[in-house]
Amino acid sequence: MREKPKVLKLLKLLPWLEDRLAAAYEVVNLPSDAAQRADFLAKHGAEFTAVVTSAAYGIDNATMDQLPQLQVISSFGVGLDKIDVAHAHAKGVAVGYTPDVLNDCVADLAFALLLGIGRRVSEGDRFVREGHWSSGAVGPFPLGFQVSQAKLGIVGLGRIGATIAKRSTGFEMDVRYHSRKPVASEWTYEPSLTELAKWADFLVVITSGGAGTRHLINREVLDALAPKGFLINVARGTVVDEAALVDALQHKRIAGAALDVFENEPFVPKELYELDNVLMVPHIASATAQTRQAMGQRVLDNLAAFFKQQPLVSAA
Ligand code: NAP
Ligand code: 8YV
Repeated sequence: MREKPKVLKLLKLLPWLEDRLAAAYEVVNLPSDAAQRADFLAKHGAEFTAVVTSAAYGIDNATMDQLPQLQVISSFGVGLDKIDVAHAHAKGVAVGYTPDVLNDCVADLAFALLLGIGRRVSEGDRFVREGHWSSGAVGPFPLGFQVSQAKLGIVGLGRIGATIAKRSTGFEMDVRYHSRKPVASEWTYEPSLTELAKWADFLVVITSGGAGTRHLINREVLDALAPKGFLINVARGTVVDEAALVDALQHKRIAGAALDVFENEPFVPKELYELDNVLMVPHIASATAQTRQAMGQRVLDNLAAFFKQQPLVSAA
C-alpha cells in the first residue's frame, strides 16, 4: 500500500474535516505548548511539505522557517492577515485559501448586523425578556432607524463588499464605497473615507486586515460618522481603533455599532457589555453549516491539487 503523504496540522478543525484529512493523509498535530512545539519542530520540521491552518490561526514566519521542506500552506478562510504571503512566496511556498465560497454567508451576516443594530433587534429582545414590555415601567421602547432607502457606505468593495452592495438593492439603499482605488461597478466611489463616513447612515467595514488597514477606522472617521451613523465591522478587529470606538459608543457620539470581530479575540472590551448601542457576535460571519462545508472542501481541494502537482484551486 502507498504511504499517505504527511500533513502538519496547526489547529483543531471541524470533525468531518479532521476525518477527511486523516483518511487521505498522515496528519500530525503541532503541539500547542511553546516548548514542546520548538522541540517538535527541531526534531521533525524537515518531514513536512504541507501545513493546514486557518485564517484565524495563521502561521508565523518562525514556524515556516523551521519547516525547511515546506511547499504548501492550506488555510481554512479567506483572510491572510496572519500568514505572511510574501515570506511564504520568497521561500517557494504556495498559499491556498478559501475565497468566494463564503461571500454570501459573510454578506448575509453583515446585513443581519446592520438590521439588528438599526432596528434595535437584540435590544428589543432584552426588553421583552427582562419584562419591561409587560410591566410598562420603563416607558416605550425607543424608535429604530429605517434600513430601507438608507445610505450605505462600504469600506472595501472586494469579493465580499460587492456581495453586500448587491444585497442592499432589495432594501433600495443608496450605496457608495471607499477603497484605495475605484473598481468597475455600478456603485459610487468615494475617494475620502472621512467623506464616506460623513455621508453614510451605515458604514460597513469589509477590507482585508493586516498592517495596511490597521486602525483605518480611527477617531476622525468615527467623528465623521457622528452623530447619526452606525458602524458595522465584519472585516478584522484591527481595522477599527477599538479604544476610540468604545469612547464614541460610551459618549453616544455615534448611533451604534455592530461587531463580528474584535482587536483581541476572544476578548471584548468589558465597557461594551454595559452598552445598549452595540451588538456583538463571536466572529461568526462565515459560520453556517453550508459555508463551512464549502470552505473545508476548498482546504482539501487545495491540498489534493498540491499532492497531484497541479495548481492550487485558490492560491493567494
Ligand atoms: P478582497 O476581495 O481582497 O477585498 C478586500 C477589499 O479591501 C478590497 O476592496 C480592497 O481594495 C480593500 N482594501 C484593502 N486595503 C485597503 C485600505 N488600506 N483602504 C481601503 N480599502 C482597502 O477580500 P474579501 O474576500 O472581500 O475579504 C475581505 C476580508 O474580510 C478578508 O480579508 C477577511 O479579513 C475578512 N473576512 C472576515 C470574515 C468574518 O468571519 N468576519 C469572513 C471572511 C472574510 P483596494 O485594494 O483597492 O484598496
Ligand atoms: C473564519 C474568516 O472565521 O475567512 C476568514 O478570513 O475570518 C472566517 O471565515 C476563519 O477563517 C476561521 O478560521
